Amino acid sequence: MSNKKGICNIAIDGPAGAGKSTLARKLAERLGYVYVDTGAMYRAIAYYALLNQLKPMEEIISHLAVLHIGLRYENGSQRVFINDMDVSDQIRTAEVSMAASRVSAIPEVRTYLFDLQQQLAKKQSVVMDGRDIGTVVLPHADVKIFLTASPQQRAKRRHLELVEKMGDAAPDFDSVLADVVQRDHQDSTRAVAPLKQAEDAVLLDTTNYDLAESEEALYQICKERLNLE
Ligand code: DC
Repeated sequence: MSNKKGICNIAIDGPAGAGKSTLARKLAERLGYVYVDTGAMYRAIAYYALLNQLKPMEEIISHLAVLHIGLRYENGSQRVFINDMDVSDQIRTAEVSMAASRVSAIPEVRTYLFDLQQQLAKKQSVVMDGRDIGTVVLPHADVKIFLTASPQQRAKRRHLELVEKMGDAAPDFDSVLADVVQRDHQDSTRAVAPLKQAEDAVLLDTTNYDLAESEEALYQICKERLNLE
């Protein structure tokens, strides 16, 4: 299934640490689609707000008109730019994660990114991941998946990633779990576009799957829905 121009959209939503980015990127690679990580866009805006010491966070609203978020692709991976500055690495800290969750509750920020995200999906086949892709951004997506895992399992994966990246400087497991729980709460209780499963989304719970199993399960759902050989 695809639209008249042969463009196909896959929406993947789910809570923090469910493995969305890794799995969505691999799925896009396998299908030859463009991967769009919408969380990185919220993170870029949050990073900008922190950099400019905007307080309260709502001050970001008056900056949106002069803010340009760009996505470029290098060797299949998405790089995020804010006013031509590559912030792809700086946006991955715990501080930016928490700020992104707050920034994403601001309606004006959501409207601003909504337009950008819809344009990207209109011009090419995408695997787009986020929190409101199947419910708000791409309500007519060809495939919608709600990807989740238990909070403990998600925190375990995130903690492992941080230890690999930061060694002894990584935060301990309990604080990673507390962050996961707090972000789940913020993302699913906010007034605008809260995280929730679209009625027509397929639920994929990867608590008991490793990466390869999750990847295959995701691909099989898409294969079936898109009638791929
Ligand atoms: O997926 P992530 O952890 O990179 O997302 C960062 C924050 O942005 C997350 O707390 C929720 C928010 N977000 C959102 O509200 N809507 C999206 N489509 C993507 C992310």
